[in-house]
Amino acid sequence: MKIPVGILGATGAVGQRFVQLLADHPWFEIAELAASDRSAGKPYREACTWRLPGAPSEAVGATPVTTCEGPFRSKVLFSGLDSSVAGDVEAALAGQGYAVISNARNHRMDPDVPLLIPEVNPEHLEALTVQRRRTGGGYIVTNPNCSVVGLAMALAPLHRAFGVKEVAVATLQSLSGAGYPGVASLDVSDNVLPYIGGGEEEKIEKEPRRILGRFDGKSFVPAGFAVSASVHRVPVSDGHTMALFVRLERKASAAEAARALAEFRGEPQERRLPSAPCRPIHVLEAPDRPQPRLDRDREGGMAVSVGRVREDGTFDLKLEALVHNTIRGAAGAAILNGELLQARGLLS
Ligand SMILES: NC(=O)c1ccc[n+]([C@@H]2O[C@H](COP(=O)([O-])OP(=O)(O)OC[C@H]3O[C@@H](n4cnc5c(N)ncnc54)[C@H](OP(=O)(O)O)[C@@H]3O)[C@@H](O)[C@H]2O)c1
Repeated sequence: MKIPVGILGATGAVGQRFVQLLADHPWFEIAELAASDRSAGKPYREACTWRLPGAPSEAVGATPVTTCEGPFRSKVLFSGLDSSVAGDVEAALAGQGYAVISNARNHRMDPDVPLLIPEVNPEHLEALTVQRRRTGGGYIVTNPNCSVVGLAMALAPLHRAFGVKEVAVATLQSLSGAGYPGVASLDVSDNVLPYIGGGEEEKIEKEPRRILGRFDGKSFVPAGFAVSASVHRVPVSDGHTMALFVRLERKASAAEAARALAEFRGEPQERRLPSAPCRPIHVLEAPDRPQPRLDRDREGGMAVSVGRVREDGTFDLKLEALVHNTIRGAAGAAILNGELLQARGLLS
């Protein structure tokens, strides 16, 4: 018997990825689809302008879209809701006893909500004990900002092995990160936009410290390093690229750093969770990689690609990282979170 799940924001860019990635999932089965009043009452195939390769199944296409208020038959709800509504909707549903596994930024920094990357900080799920006492049983688990997933995964093995002291990062973020219709074509064709709204730089500066910090039984204690970010929107369809400059507590050669990155594994790999990549980080040797078009789909879009790992005279190390923003950076991240919750017995 598969676990029935609902998708909130099912018609959006992230919602469509949920529909695509859950289509043949071994544990979860799409039972309900929800979005705004504009979509409610229509069959999914009419409510949603499908923008991914392939098409949803007949059954999913015929499923009537509901609003997000509930009640839902599914106890597990994946959320790709717009942040203008996710805050109140997700809190209300957690209060009604649902497990809400969210992409939205609204609850990421709440004192008892895990901001989870299963390979990096599965122990942060301990915060659910505190959260469930507050809500009476339901809960919210969040995944990070789409760039932060790639950034935090690249930093985690370096932090464990050598200690990270300071990070500077410049991002080159794809168009799908802005949802649909996203950025106006006349703004982005033949162009680079050195600004992304919605507090993008602040999220990239804050979230990795929370993820690589610890939960002390009551609240989260952020990691002690500082992050400085500068973001750009570039005319790439999918895949966020980042140039990272890292100062370390203990010096490491480029070869030592590359080995720590390549050997990185976590609980999803030990437990062989269905969406877990075999190797969370692919270290690429070629001097002109990673590239979004060539490398974003590694291990179904769930692996982060890293390249150009080199020593640096100003910082200690510099490297490039690439993450598929709507898979590992969004829907795939949430599904992996759901799999870890199920494997740990937290979905029942
Ligand atoms: N795109 C990415 O790479 C990415 C990565 C990580 C996280 N995220 C986060 O994931 C969330 C979704 O992003 P997206 O890019 O998928 O956005 P999107 O394409 O604009 O989709 C937004 C979804 O929210 C629904 N919605 C909007 N207003 C609503 C309301 N008042 N009540 C109920 N539902 C409402 C929309 O339904 P209708 O179609 O009915 O309007 C749609 O299903 C955001 O919080 C975003 O920050 C996105």
